Amino acid sequence: MANSWRLLGLLLLVLSDQISADFYSERAAVLEAEANTFMGSELTLSPNEERVNKLLMQMKHTELDSAFESSSYPPAQSLFVSKSEIEASNVFQFIQSLPKGGAIHTHDISIASIDWAIANLTYRDNLWACFDHGSLRFSWALNPDDQCTKWDSLADLRQDLGSEEVDYLIKRYLVINVPNPDEVYPDVNAVWEAFGSALGTVTTLISYEPAFRDYFRQALVEFHADNVQLLEVRTVLPDEVCKDLGPCNKLSQTEIAAIYQEVADEFLQGNPDSCGTHMIFAPTRGVTDETFSEYIPMAQTLMANHPGFFVGFDLVGQEDKGRPLIDYADALIAAKQSDPKLKYFLHAGETDWQGVSTDINIIDALLLNTTRIGHGYAIVKHPEAKRLARERDVPLEICPISNQVLGLVHDLRNHPGAVLIQEGFPLVISSDDPATWDLTGLSYDFYEAFMGMAGRDMDLRLLKKLVLNSVKYAGFVDETKRQQCQDLVMSKWDAFMDTFASSVDPEIQLIHK
Ligand SMILES: *[C@@H]1O[C@H](CO)[C@@H](O)[C@H](O)[C@H]1NC(C)=O
Ligand SMILES: *[C@@H]1O[C@H](CO)[C@@H](O)[C@H](O)[C@H]1NC(C)=O
Ligand SMILES: [Zn+2]
Repeated sequence: MANSWRLLGLLLLVLSDQISADFYSERAAVLEAEANTFMGSELTLSPNEERVNKLLMQMKHTELDSAFESSSYPPAQSLFVSKSEIEASNVFQFIQSLPKGGAIHTHDISIASIDWAIANLTYRDNLWACFDHGSLRFSWALNPDDQCTKWDSLADLRQDLGSEEVDYLIKRYLVINVPNPDEVYPDVNAVWEAFGSALGTVTTLISYEPAFRDYFRQALVEFHADNVQLLEVRTVLPDEVCKDLGPCNKLSQTEIAAIYQEVADEFLQGNPDSCGTHMIFAPTRGVTDETFSEYIPMAQTLMANHPGFFVGFDLVGQEDKGRPLIDYADALIAAKQSDPKLKYFLHAGETDWQGVSTDINIIDALLLNTTRIGHGYAIVKHPEAKRLARERDVPLEICPISNQVLGLVHDLRNHPGAVLIQEGFPLVISSDDPATWDLTGLSYDFYEAFMGMAGRDMDLRLLKKLVLNSVKYAGFVDETKRQQCQDLVMSKWDAFMDTFASSVDPEIQLIHK
């Protein structure tokens, strides 16, 4: 009896040894499989890139470990409070100096830094301010019109209050940053209201041709300085820009488009180490059918008059409040039918809701053959849309900080993009409206994606994939130009790896995680 018990015990032990062995080998296989699905995991790094990667991952792990211990972790906090901590990060500084390819989801009235606009534009002559019902409007004029109870000249205000005070005062209307966002902006609608108001104020500040030109030029300068080689900008083509100091002689939308091209061409000439600028005509979505019927011909005219510069069409404005794509579907289908070159870059699914018109927009955008999807935040709740996007290789333009500050997600580890990055989904990272949250360029969003939305061991390959995708999915009309841009970006990338790898202290290479 005792013997057979012993035998059974032995048998169980052998069995459990076997189960244990299976468990460990299956575990290793699952982990291995997952380590080979994230975006960029298929890339092979060069010896230089390997050296850089080793250092990058040391920095990343150090920062993650210290965040784990101190419970202060920038991607988990609002950008409004984490900004200076991000700026102090070694990983962030590395990302800043990295050639990043394209920022292909941005908007024309929120891309040049507000500090520049204040220091430069608001010190010019003939600028007036109207503080009214908690908002601020500017006017460029010798004598402003009477549409304000009290116009203050900026020069006089500065005499009275002091420059520093005035600069500080103005800035509060131009950015939406607050130290306590949860209290000030309890929901998405509250923050969108502030967002709209800040954009309105900027629009008035650049409502005079010289200011308008310089603002756009400054945006190109700043993105270039942030090591971005290609910028794609959605434009509403604001119709309130005056040629002179009043009475206002308005620039037509066609003239504005021409100004954009002039400024962009001139910038490219002076900066041949970049791929240039593309514009997407993106007027506001909450309009009547009549207004909408003017949009498509305008997009076509722009694309015809500015080939390779105006590259497509989109609609902007808060999706939850605007009209859904389905309202315009017939018009969009007919337009594409008559003009196959017309390309759509539709914002869709920028919402936390499911089963409402905003997230259904993703399905409509895909079926309308959109070239890319702006945000697509809600796509993870739509397996069929995910399948379609993958099959047709339609990427999402993910803007992490925008989604955070505009109230969709607090802790960026919970951003749906984290899932998509792990799955190797087609996507790019962009910065949407960085100026409105007091940022410049693209690096902050790359940082959030790399530190907050990507796993601990996702490395330089992910960053490289994001850079490659930004060119692959950019709105080039001419494939030769896309190839040239890819070559340019990759040669800058290789040069960076070269310099960085040779500057790395060999001692550091010996330290392992
Ligand atoms: C303002 O910007 C313009 C155009 O970028 C530049 O030429 C000028 O020097 C700047 N002025 C100041 C005061 O910074
Ligand atoms: C989208 O593209 C497919 C494939 O080219 C085509 O069959 C379909 O008709 C297009 N749909 C629309 C709405 O243009
Ligand atoms: Zn956008």
